[in-house]
Formats: sequence, C-alpha cells, structure tokens
Amino acid sequence: MVFLSGCDDMSTQEDMGIPGPVEIREMTADDLNEVLAIEHASFSAPWTEDHFREEMAVPFCHDLVAYCGGKLSGYMSFAIVHDEVHIRNIAVRRDVRRCGIASTLMGEMLSITARHRVRLAILEVRVSNVAAARLYEKFDFSVRGVRQAYYTRPVEDALILCADLFENAGTFSRGDSPL
Ligand SMILES: CC(C)(COP(=O)(O)OP(=O)(O)OC[C@H]1O[C@@H](n2cnc3c(N)ncnc32)[C@H](O)[C@@H]1OP(=O)(O)O)[C@@H](O)C(=O)NCCC(=O)NCCS
Repeated sequence: MVFLSGCDDMSTQEDMGIPGPVEIREMTADDLNEVLAIEHASFSAPWTEDHFREEMAVPFCHDLVAYCGGKLSGYMSFAIVHDEVHIRNIAVRRDVRRCGIASTLMGEMLSITARHRVRLAILEVRVSNVAAARLYEKFDFSVRGVRQAYYTRPVEDALILCADLFENAGTFSRGDSPL
C-alpha cells in the first residue's frame, strides 16, 4: 500500500531529504535491524528483538512498517481484542519526523480496525511526551485517566488516552490523516 505522507510537496520533501511517498507493509523479521535502530533511538526503555519477534507471532497483534524513499522510516504495533485496539508502540526515524509518517501509520491502523469493527482505541503515553500527545489529539484521543509510575527509566506516570472509533467512522479512513 502506498500513501502520500504530509510531505507530498516535492520541494518540501527534497528540502527535508524525504524522497517520496510512504509505503505501509506488514513488519517481517527482515525489518528488525532497522526497527531496533529506531526503537533504541526513540525510547529510554526500548523493546528488545525478542519482544518484536513475540509480537509478530501473536495473531491478534499487528505490526506495520512505513517505508519512505526505500528506507524503513517508522513502525507501529497494535493489538485488536474483540472491539478494542490497544496501540502498543509507534516510532519514526528522527530525520523524517514531522512529515506525516506516524499519521500515515495511524491512518492504516484505523483502516484495519474498521474492518474488524473495532469500537474503542486505547493507549498509554508518558505525561512528558508532548509530540505523541499532539499526534493522538489529532486523531481525537482524549485523556481518560492516569497510570501512576507506569514507566521506568525514568519512572513516570502514563496518561491513558482513548478514542471512540465508531464516533470517528468516516472521518479518517485508509491512509487519511487529519493533517
Ligand atoms: C510521536 C512520533 C511517533 C510522531 O511521528 P511523526 O511522523 O513525526 O508524526 P507526524 O508527522 O504524523 O505528526 C502529526 C502531528 O503530531 C504532532 N506532532 C508531531 N511531532 C510533534 C512535536 N515534536 N511537537 C509537537 N507536536 C508534534 C503535530 O500535531 C503533527 O502535526 P503537524 O506537523 O501538522 O503540526 C515521533 O515523534 C516519534 O517517533 N517519537 C518517539 C517515539 C514516541 O514517543 N512514540 C510514542 C510513544 S506513546
């Protein structure tokens, strides 16, 4: 699947070193070296290779990668259980952030969850993670609670964010983003 990211203006793409549209695929074991490099550059308590491998082996877990200009530029993991989706991980390579890649991944996630008639999306985010919180706000997530000391390295509370996907049905579809 090929989507244009928010950086679909070619001069902007060239300025930012982004050479083209975003392609979303299922993650495979061949992606893991690049995924782990982004994971380690993005999180103070990164998932391990085993964690990603276990995730990919679970039927209700979905792991997507975003390719841009032939390079793995981001990824996302989420689990669908009954009518809920739990967003478990999302990260984008530092040099291509703020170009709509995470939004494109979120759009594909919403396309998949719509096919499964998922009603509710839920995730946790560090209270200090402004970039992620803004991203989720754009997809109509709102704060529903706090998990105290949920994260380690450093210890930090998590905001619990939820979005009612039926309410948003038709607003965001395959590859769309609210940007
Ligand atoms: C959060 C993250 C995935 C966003 O990826 P991205 O591809 O840069 O996101 P997008 O380009 O799709 O941005 C969509 C919107 O999110 C918000 N956003 C993204 N980065 C932001 C930042 N640094 N500051 C403020 N808002 C930001 C903006 O509203 C943005 O829209 P805009 O650029 O039109 O203003 C990326 O910053 C990242 O990998 N962070 C480290 C890993 C992480 O924290 N993951 C989330 C764990 S819960």
